[in-house]
Amino acid sequence: MKILSIETSCDETAVTLLEIDGPLDKPDIKVLGNTLLSQVALHEQYGGVYPTLAKREHQKNLPVLLSQTLKEAGADEANPDIDIIAVTAGPGLEPALWAGITFAAKLGKRWDKPVVPVNHMEGHIWSVLYTEPKISNDEFLISKKLELPALALLVSGGHTELVLVKDFGHYQILGRTLDDAVGEAFDKAARMLGLSYPGGPKLSKLASISRGKKGSLDFKLPSPMLHSGDLNFSFSGLKTAVLYKLRDAKRDDEEFKEDMARAFEDAAVAALAGKTRTALENLGDEIKTLIVAGGVSANTRLISELGKMLQSFPALAFRTPARMLTTDNAVMIGIAAYVSVVKRPELLKGGEISAEGNLTYL
Ligand code: KG4
Ligand code: ZN
Repeated sequence: MKILSIETSCDETAVTLLEIDGPLDKPDIKVLGNTLLSQVALHEQYGGVYPTLAKREHQKNLPVLLSQTLKEAGADEANPDIDIIAVTAGPGLEPALWAGITFAAKLGKRWDKPVVPVNHMEGHIWSVLYTEPKISNDEFLISKKLELPALALLVSGGHTELVLVKDFGHYQILGRTLDDAVGEAFDKAARMLGLSYPGGPKLSKLASISRGKKGSLDFKLPSPMLHSGDLNFSFSGLKTAVLYKLRDAKRDDEEFKEDMARAFEDAAVAALAGKTRTALENLGDEIKTLIVAGGVSANTRLISELGKMLQSFPALAFRTPARMLTTDNAVMIGIAAYVSVVKRPELLKGGEISAEGNLTYL
């Protein structure tokens, strides 16, 4: 099946042409054309993403990226050889989502192809189905089927949730953040340390400098909600703790910033790994795979702490996306569309699609 996929839920405009066939637990995915434009530089000056500005940029970028993607794939723009068009319907910024949906609907009419709505979070989950030897370099993963049920820890700038993936198309949210998403907290703490948006990866780099310099820190930040007894997260208190610590310490030298970044990362990662452990313990042997996806799954500290935690669960498989699929992209939207139409062929009939900023699982 050939799928043209479009992603515009936040500040990345992405268009991909994929060819996917085979079983859902080990599909054969070929990326025929793939383009992405990040608006990070534009939003950097505001310290966050402005929805109406993002929408205008998506509208400007989409026709350009479409032409580039089709050209890369050697497809005819007047009448490309595709089966479906997939577009992110939510969750995300509604004006930004509408830019993609309106564009997809027009293409659907022009080429007489069905347009299939995709849940962005399902996209993050199924991003792990793509394994390319050159990128993952992991023969073990490539030859492995994805075994379900799985527990998915989804960590991004907009979301932080633990999802029970009972089967393809069957999801249950077990816990989520009650306030800030973990990526958002990383970005806000980074900003307090004078790092530009999105500061998550930059903060993480500072933290690793501190770890390289000294064995342990002489202060700690509280790991939020670690003992709350449920599977929810909260990161706004941790952000405030950074603010107070910076104010009270009356220091802003480089070494102090590195230590603060490390204390923040340690606390945030401990909360994520701790709740994931609790969820796995609650679910027992039922769970076959742990999936960790979303922008913050690029965080090496998180992956190494989860790896340590997984020593207590030796039977569990561990899947993370290829590096280029950790942050928002259209490849994962195309893969999630494949999962959706295989499970619900009625989606191939098409129909009206609306943007839903708070969309939960379809
Ligand atoms: O999934 P994503 O691209 O966008 C959303 O759907 O939100 O995630 C972006 C988020 C940003 O907050 C960014 O700072 C964070 O992921 N991020 C990281 C790292 N790489 C990206 N946070 C911590 N450590 C990283 N290495
Ligand atoms: Zn995302």
